[in-house]
Amino acid sequence: MEIVIADADAVGALVADELHALLERRPDAVLGLATGSSPLSVYDELARRVQDGRLSFARARGFTLDEYVGLPADDPRSYRAVIDADLVSRVDFAPGAVRGPDGTAEDLVAACLEYERAIADAGGIDLQILGVGTAGHIAFNEPSSSLTSRTRIKTLTLQTRQDNARFFGGDVDAVPRHCLTQGLGTILDSRHAIVIATGTRKAAAVREMVEGAISARWPCTALQLHPRATVVIDEAAASELELADYYREVQEHRDAVE
Ligand code: GLP
Repeated sequence: MEIVIADADAVGALVADELHALLERRPDAVLGLATGSSPLSVYDELARRVQDGRLSFARARGFTLDEYVGLPADDPRSYRAVIDADLVSRVDFAPGAVRGPDGTAEDLVAACLEYERAIADAGGIDLQILGVGTAGHIAFNEPSSSLTSRTRIKTLTLQTRQDNARFFGGDVDAVPRHCLTQGLGTILDSRHAIVIATGTRKAAAVREMVEGAISARWPCTALQLHPRATVVIDEAAASELELADYYREVQEHRDAVE
């Protein structure tokens, strides 16, 4: 795991640089896109670069991580609508190039299987962007998620529904109870995963993700099994890390061996 501790206002450009370099190397790369507030500064930076003519998503494809069950795609609170507003509508993806799990399907189990197939048919995810929930979920893999899980139906914890109530007029009862989410196994198959976390509210989840024991209690700890995971955090999110000085030292001297 690579741990990058940066100024909060540098996080967006740092992660955008990785995506930008990938799209230069491989214009038809397959991107894994997270919703939520964590990647917003990255998406703002990417949109700026596309508008300046420095970057193009024209040949890229994207898969989102998760979706609420029962919210149609045109509901502004659905993750399909959120990723359209936050990224897709601001860059130059080809129509239909970004997909998400179908939380309105009549047969949700079949929709999950089909989503896994679509990712595999696209050749797998080259770069997966992730946020982390305060209780340690990635995508919507709540505590008790199997470390080898694939896309499936999950029940949201009360904590997650409280955290996300701000998008539902503050009404926790309006937040759907169920979701479809890529599994931890699906995420571990990505070729590179970058987790973004900022603020003290994320400090405990970051501590567990980087230094805790691997367990279903903190699903983000599964990333310790990922062959190439990068954690990009600000000082506040890094504040509970025991070995923060070591991670800074690694970053300071990484050029010497690259
Ligand atoms: C949400 C989403 C995740 C997101 C995480 C953190 O509930 N399902 O995909 O990464 O929780 O959200 P935020 O970035 O808004 O803190």
